[in-house]
Amino acid sequence: QTKIFEIDPENIQKDGLVFAAETLKNGGTVAFPTETVYGLGANALDQEAVKKIFEAKGRPSDNPLIVHIAKLEDLKYLVKEIPQNAKKLMARFWPGPLTIIFKRSLKVPDIITAGLDTVAIRMPSHPIAKTLIQMAGVPIAAPSANLSGKPSPTQGEHVIKDLKGKVDAIISGGSCNVGLESTVVDVTEDVPMILRPGGVTKEQLEEVLGQVKVDKAIEEGHEHLIPKSPGMKYTHYSPQADVVIISGNIDEVVEHIKKLKEEKENKGFRVGIMCTDETKENYKDAVILSMGSRKNLASIANNLFAVLRRFDEEGVDIIFAESIEQKFLGHAVMNRMVKAAGYNVIKIGG
Ligand code: TXA
Ligand code: MG
Repeated sequence: QTKIFEIDPENIQKDGLVFAAETLKNGGTVAFPTETVYGLGANALDQEAVKKIFEAKGRPSDNPLIVHIAKLEDLKYLVKEIPQNAKKLMARFWPGPLTIIFKRSLKVPDIITAGLDTVAIRMPSHPIAKTLIQMAGVPIAAPSANLSGKPSPTQGEHVIKDLKGKVDAIISGGSCNVGLESTVVDVTEDVPMILRPGGVTKEQLEEVLGQVKVDKAIEEGHEHLIPKSPGMKYTHYSPQADVVIISGNIDEVVEHIKKLKEEKENKGFRVGIMCTDETKENYKDAVILSMGSRKNLASIANNLFAVLRRFDEEGVDIIFAESIEQKFLGHAVMNRMVKAAGYNVIKIGG
């Protein structure tokens, strides 16, 4: 039995959160909105509670969880030390869409870290997430609130579809602002390293830190390396349909997609086209969904997962997706798209 609560993030009724906070304290599971994506939370200090998260999602046990906190005092006993670089990042980006990897303390249960000697911590800025964590009074472990392998949920309905009947409570609180997961950055070595691109861009991190590395394993053409963030090795974000990304000069990309669409349609396939506001007029007679405007990468980040889920509802067999320019939020967008496509990218032109 899953209790479902509708809560307006602009006008939070605290009584609505009392049940959820009690549930968390008592070892239950609660899905709730954050500014990135919805999370599925449990008391991070309670191993049995955390186990329920893995079961509900069907998540592999070698994939560690992010611990969410609402106040800095909670950081101190979860980590071994707080490096200077972490302090700079926290001052600038917390609360917000940044997860920081620290050396763990022994207070953190092994199930959270999946056996690593580090722990991932994030302080979310979403008013519902903040209030709920505060009211629960304990740090909250929370992966994205989707079934493992599916696109992350950015709206209450996505969570209800994936997890109703599998968790104790779902707080439906509107659509997530950022729409992509947090950036994961490791500060345990001298030069910080991005392990997962996300809501905070590399450019923003460089402003604060100077030099920032990116885990080579998550860069294009290095799929054979083992990522430092265990979750990055899984194919992810996959809709039912096959996804193919077409990359290159945008005019050529449009022409190529039109050609591929004809070919597939002639074979009886139902085709989806994932495009942008600037290009959507070029297509017709298919399930055509725009991710947003190329001039506003935040709009594309915001819509991406919802659009992938909509293609499933439309029952398409194959999705042709335009690539997005890899700068600023475009890195995180393309990272998720390439995984949704299972690395199936057609490059055209030079
Ligand atoms: O925006 C987000 O980060 C959302 C919201 C709910 O906060 N959460 C989220 O959690 O995306 P999840 O579990 O779907 O992704 C967590 C990622 C995984 O790739 C995992 O492997 C990585 O963080 N991670 C967790 N702990 C780690 C650690 N100690 N070292 C390296 N990577 C870690
Ligand atoms: Mg996830």
